[in-house]
Amino acid sequence: MKILVTGGLGFIGSHTVVELQNSGYEVVIIDNCSNSSENVLDGIAAITGRRPVFEKIDLREKEKVQDFFKRHSDVQGTIHFAASKAVGESVEKPLLYYENNLSTLIYILQELTAKKAQSFIFSSSCTVYGQASKMPITEDAPVQKAESPYGNTKQIGEEIIIDTCKVNQELQAISLRYFNPMGAHPSSEIGELPIGVPQNLVPFITQTGVGLRDQLSVFGGDYPTPDGTCIRDYIHVVDLAKAHVVALERLLEGKNTENYEVYNVGTGEGSSVLEVISSFERVSGLKLNYSIVDRRAGDIISAFADTKKANKILGWEAKSSLDQAMKSAWDWEQKIRN
Ligand code: WQD
Repeated sequence: MKILVTGGLGFIGSHTVVELQNSGYEVVIIDNCSNSSENVLDGIAAITGRRPVFEKIDLREKEKVQDFFKRHSDVQGTIHFAASKAVGESVEKPLLYYENNLSTLIYILQELTAKKAQSFIFSSSCTVYGQASKMPITEDAPVQKAESPYGNTKQIGEEIIIDTCKVNQELQAISLRYFNPMGAHPSSEIGELPIGVPQNLVPFITQTGVGLRDQLSVFGGDYPTPDGTCIRDYIHVVDLAKAHVVALERLLEGKNTENYEVYNVGTGEGSSVLEVISSFERVSGLKLNYSIVDRRAGDIISAFADTKKANKILGWEAKSSLDQAMKSAWDWEQKIRN
């Protein structure tokens, strides 16, 4: 069965392609390589022994999207990762984010709704909850006003899918709301490749560990949390990738009860920034050089998932501990720096 993975050369996309191939699916990747490299195909092939079909297409070009679906009329499932995802950049360049993240979604959905029985997985984010009032966060927590255009594109994206599913019973869709992905494939053949200075915590930690960065700045030590630093739900990217295969199969096998469903994908555990640093120090045996500085604008205090719905209904749960995820991130960092 042929599955389209947009953004399949990216961090989460590439790990999901590996898991799809491991489950016997034929994968076609679309990526415009704006935030990824074709070399990732070698990493995927090194792990699975199969090089996925890759087409370099910018999904903002509607005719190219239409042409792709004409040539690949046997696609039965689509996992849509392709999007811009840097929160800070989205504040500076809102129109780039609204155009890239929403027009591409619309063009894909226009093709899928013109066909029969299509399964669609949308890459959403816990960002849609903003600062939820209750921890852990369930899927019923209210979607709150987005703190950034990036977060807003995820909220609007979900609404576009909801409205489309309402009038297209042939379209079966699931939104997966990720918490904080981290780590790399245990083979160290693929992993996170942030371009420039990493915005996210874990790649900044591992780059500090290998000496690429002098010191980690901990953004705020005076939050109302046990150790004063923000709490997040850090999930191993391979666990997250596996959740996509399970969600897709739920749709392909017609097990979904609604033609639009939403699932939180996290570990259910909250970890503070200082606890993540301690995890790095345990797995690396190094002392991390860091200093506590002012808070970062837009950061929420705490977010970790209630995973009961995904555990019970999807039959999926995260297997890796924070240390196991951190070890995979550290192994990967050391490999790409040697
Ligand atoms: C985590 C914690 C920072 C860097 C974002 C997106 C979210 C998702 C994951 C896409 C925070 C602290 C960070 C640093 C630090 N992305 N930190 N020093 O902001 O929770 O979530 O990435 O889907 O949508 O919003 O992740 O890794 O940036 O920050 O102290 O150099 O680490 O303040 O508390 P975040 P993050």
